[in-house]
Amino acid sequence: MSLKTNYRDGDSFTRKSKREGYRSRASYKLKEILKKDIKPKRGCSILDLGSYPGGWSQVATEFSSKSGMVVAIDIQPMKKIDGCFFLQKSVEAVTDEDLLVIKKFLPFDLVLSDMAPNISGIRERDDALMLGLVDLVLMMIDTKLKKEGSALIKVFQGASLDYTRVALNKRFNKVKISKPKASRSNSKEIYIIGKELKNYERTS
Ligand SMILES: C[S@@+](CC[C@H](N)C(=O)[O-])C[C@H]1O[C@@H](n2cnc3c(N)ncnc32)[C@H](O)[C@@H]1O
Repeated sequence: MSLKTNYRDGDSFTRKSKREGYRSRASYKLKEILKKDIKPKRGCSILDLGSYPGGWSQVATEFSSKSGMVVAIDIQPMKKIDGCFFLQKSVEAVTDEDLLVIKKFLPFDLVLSDMAPNISGIRERDDALMLGLVDLVLMMIDTKLKKEGSALIKVFQGASLDYTRVALNKRFNKVKISKPKASRSNSKEIYIIGKELKNYERTS
């Protein structure tokens, strides 16, 4: 795909998201992956890490439906979404007390992360920051995801993809890489999916 076509497609997703009331074009990336690969059941509980402005949370609430629950976490404030419980804090600062109000929906069926660091353009620095965020997601998977549950994590091609692939292979029976249509082909972002969380030995 040429750069020109790629940007045109990106813009068409932006226009579509405005028309259809989604807060970000990222909504279509999640929609495609959930429909094709994860297929969450109605009534499921979903943890959405790095949720602002809420494009993924909107899609997640469509899949979880009225009987389920979406818990969204971000450092930035996020406007209310029905069916979504929002916590404004860094993922590393989340405590069990923060989740007491939604206790009956725990552990989660699905953990999502679209978290990204502030990109500097310096590859080693950006990779190191992304690895730190992936470690936070792994901590959530290890403590808050139910056995047989699934996870979807955005990473960058290169060091963070390699690191996350190894970490997910240890934890899940099935691991798959996805580059959805709404993700620009010249973007380094890529999505890694883990399905069927194993009962694996946690060493830390
Ligand atoms: C690409 S945006 C997410 C877009 C969102 N998924 C959507 O569809 O609207 C990445 C988000 O990750 C958040 N983030 C980065 N580090 C974080 C952390 N340690 N804890 C919580 N959120 C974090 C940023 O504040 C930012 O809003």
